[in-house]
Amino acid sequence: MRIAIIGTGYVGLVSGACFSDFGHEVTCVDKDVSKIAALRHGIMPIYEPGLDMLVETNVRAGRLSFTDDLATAVKNVSAVFIAVGTPSRRGDGHADLSYVFAAAREVAAALDGPAVIVNKSTVPVGTGDEVERIVSEIAPDKGITVASNPEFLREGAALSDFKRPDRVIVGAEDEPTRSVLAAIYRPLSLNQSSALVFTSRRTAELIKYAANAFLATKVAFINEIADLCEVVGADVQGVSRGIGMDNRIGRKFLHAGPGFGGSCFPKDTLALLKTADDNDSPLRIVEATVAANESRKRAMGRKIIRAMGGRVRGKTVGLLGLTFKPDTDDMRDSPAIPIIRALQDAGAIVRAHDPEGMEQAKTMLSDVDFAADPYAVADGADALVIVTEWDAFRALDLKRIAALLATPTLVDLRNVYPAREAVAAGLEYVGVGIGDFESRPFVKMADPVA
Ligand code: UGA
Repeated sequence: MRIAIIGTGYVGLVSGACFSDFGHEVTCVDKDVSKIAALRHGIMPIYEPGLDMLVETNVRAGRLSFTDDLATAVKNVSAVFIAVGTPSRRGDGHADLSYVFAAAREVAAALDGPAVIVNKSTVPVGTGDEVERIVSEIAPDKGITVASNPEFLREGAALSDFKRPDRVIVGAEDEPTRSVLAAIYRPLSLNQSSALVFTSRRTAELIKYAANAFLATKVAFINEIADLCEVVGADVQGVSRGIGMDNRIGRKFLHAGPGFGGSCFPKDTLALLKTADDNDSPLRIVEATVAANESRKRAMGRKIIRAMGGRVRGKTVGLLGLTFKPDTDDMRDSPAIPIIRALQDAGAIVRAHDPEGMEQAKTMLSDVDFAADPYAVADGADALVIVTEWDAFRALDLKRIAALLATPTLVDLRNVYPAREAVAAGLEYVGVGIGDFESRPFVKMADPVA
């Protein structure tokens, strides 16, 4: 089938590459001429494992191409996917839909025959109806229909998430539209992937927000349990394992850390709250999730300062990992940002290393020394802090780290290392939610009587 994709961000580019790999003929469109020129030379605008190879293979096979000319791209297509950004609107947290509506207008005007406009961007309930209204104004007689097909891929695991999804959700209001989407996703059954689920358009739009809000809530929940573990002398990793083995709860998204970040959870939880507010239908649990996560990110700075004896003025803090999670160069809403701010406000000197995020980080952070590798970060620092659990930080020579540090303190905000191993290497270890006396022999429990 011939498909056009508007927008070459994470979702657009990954979808385009994967659809072409399924055998469809795909044209990816972006207004950013330099981005298109770079893509034509095989240069990816984002870091995503395996994406460059997949793009190269499919461009070579003649199934994938890039253009800034929307009108040519949508000639003879069966479907046009809109995968443009829906950032938080400045000031009010609403999703900014101006790019979606602009794309819909241009596509409706440019289409030369019947096609489905498929919204893949994350958009509030009712956006599909608005796109349909725009289409009926601009091109009432072209036979254009509108569907919603939210994307659930994770950065860093985008290709496998796209090709082996737990489910594909299609919100459509009529049978011909559903069959176009069914044909596009048919190759997935060859991958033994599961369900293609058809719903109404509004339901599909809400599924996306409900899924992200639920996952964000899981993370915020286990983070608060982690805090409680520290106070009562329990181990959050044990708690996660113990509750996650219950299939009704599930093991995933129960890893305690410095708080969720990225381009989706923070933005989508806020946008969902706006929808709830606009419709006078409160989402108190999501409200609590957002509030707990915000305060957690700030609390992480204080946790590091406490681990360093309460004063950091003039001391050097080494940070490993800056991106909001591993295997991405994305710094958006990363917990590293408020952590660094808190440390700098308290007078600390911050040194950091990230395998892929330093270029973006340099544009967002000031007065940070960027080091070439983890050992250069540790050299002479007063504490080493693991902020993001990159694989490259999982097998460090802890004895060497302890020897390099001026004060041998390791603050492990992702619980990468067992406390015992770090302590055996000569480090004072502070993890997240590890209040278990046995695994942290140096921890002094609060006097229960005091
Ligand atoms: C998230 C969803 O997982 C995807 O399904 C969705 O498609 C995507 O948003 C989106 O809406 O586009 P992503 O933002 O790439 O994907 O990252 P996640 O892997 O979900 O992680 C989000 C944040 O939660 C990260 O900061 C991560 O470190 C944190 N997290 C996640 C934890 O702290 N603990 C966990 O157990 C899991």
